Amino acid sequence: MHFEQALKNPIFKTIASCAAALETPCYVVGGYVRDFILSRHTSQDIDVVAIGNGIELAESVAKALPNAPKVSIFKTYGTAMLRFKGVNLEFVGARKESYKKESRNPEICEGTIEDDQKRRDFTINALAISLNASDYGTLLDPFNGMEDLKNKRIVTPLNPNLTFSDDPLRMLRAIRFATQLEFEIDPSALEAIEKNHRRIQIISKERIVIELHKILESKKPSIGFLLLERTGLLDLIIPELTALKGIDEVEGQRHKDNFYHTLEVLDNIAQHTNNVWLRWTALLHDIGKAPTKKFSKKVGWTFHGHELKGSKMVYHLFKRLKMPLNDKMKYVQKLVFMSSRPIAISGAATTDAAVRRLLFDAGDAIGDLMTLCEADITTKNVRKFKTYLNNFKMVRQKMEEVEARDQIRNFQPPISGEDIMKAFELKPCREIGIIKEFIKEAILEGQIPNESNAAHTLMLEKGKQLGLKTRL
Ligand code: CTP
Repeated sequence: MHFEQALKNPIFKTIASCAAALETPCYVVGGYVRDFILSRHTSQDIDVVAIGNGIELAESVAKALPNAPKVSIFKTYGTAMLRFKGVNLEFVGARKESYKKESRNPEICEGTIEDDQKRRDFTINALAISLNASDYGTLLDPFNGMEDLKNKRIVTPLNPNLTFSDDPLRMLRAIRFATQLEFEIDPSALEAIEKNHRRIQIISKERIVIELHKILESKKPSIGFLLLERTGLLDLIIPELTALKGIDEVEGQRHKDNFYHTLEVLDNIAQHTNNVWLRWTALLHDIGKAPTKKFSKKVGWTFHGHELKGSKMVYHLFKRLKMPLNDKMKYVQKLVFMSSRPIAISGAATTDAAVRRLLFDAGDAIGDLMTLCEADITTKNVRKFKTYLNNFKMVRQKMEEVEARDQIRNFQPPISGEDIMKAFELKPCREIGIIKEFIKEAILEGQIPNESNAAHTLMLEKGKQLGLKTRL
């Protein structure tokens, strides 16, 4: 089969002529070929395998390109990378044995193109296109990767136990590809993941998180999380989620299975946002439910305080997975913490004051919070579903009205600490905080409008009450 259309980018001709000059046969391999055949987005990452020295080939290609881009060399891996016109080119020498047993560090040992292909993760990633003059553009597919692409199957070129023990990250990659491409993992590969899942523990958290993100960014992320759960990987990576599994029953009263509910929420939210952090929020919004679950005869099952508990767990989870403990983490924490607020004020209880408080507390995250709450409606009862959704519609409408009138979302106090100090000739003291808080509360409660004249009058009143004297 010929795939010259995959080699339209003129960079391939440059690589081919450098390789010919060095007498180093080379091939395009991996994700670029796979995605081309799938007519997925054309990948900006191109992997080239050299039958010989990949680093030397990279250096020669760089020299042949305009402005000679810089080559980054990773000697231990025998790889070299360069970036040209938005494309990342990675060169590697064909290897025979790719990985040592206890780490991801490859042992470099020269091999043929087929040696290299068979040590790759999946048959669909082991497709190679020749860049050599004798068969330029020919597809090399010794492991039936084309067939597996057609049948939507994730299959390892070798015995899956060997492929996965070469590099345990591949267990996660299998699940990630199954989710992204909506492919089936071959039963023997799935069995091997179940058997070898504990080996994921030798993989760095950073690499695990990259795969988790790719699963989360997929159209239907539940595919991945169900596979992670089924293979035992989820229990090692995010045990907070597996703890949500199961339905308890006491005296005939049952609660829903919060794990499967969470996955439904995740799939729902994926239809409304590409923001991966909002998707994380959907994944984690109920994690506080496992440790707060209680049963009492009077009220049945409760999860009191699960939002606060959950938001604290977010910090520990991010820390354990070595994810950034920055504004993204705080955003997830905030949304988990506030995840029940819109529900609490929806329906008959939607007062202006409650809406103002919600706007004040959520700030810029309000839109995302509403998206989360709407995704959280997973009832199969059509009538209830419509009622809940309609209630949120009303909350959104009320929010718009209140926001247009009172501008609460990015609340700036109409009276500053400095104004208060000036009015009462004060040095910094706790009374300033008391007055500011009093004014804020009065605005949120709707006792005064959010404007400086009304706030000034209230400030004078409150100051007097506190025994402060005005300048005038
Ligand atoms: N590969 C592998 N084992 C790994 C990682 C990668 O065998 N643990 C091989 C596969 O042939 C893969 C290629 O290296 O196609 C490039 O890897 P990478 O860039 O990580 O993935 P892609 O397949 O290109 O897919 P994506 O861009 O979606 O991550």
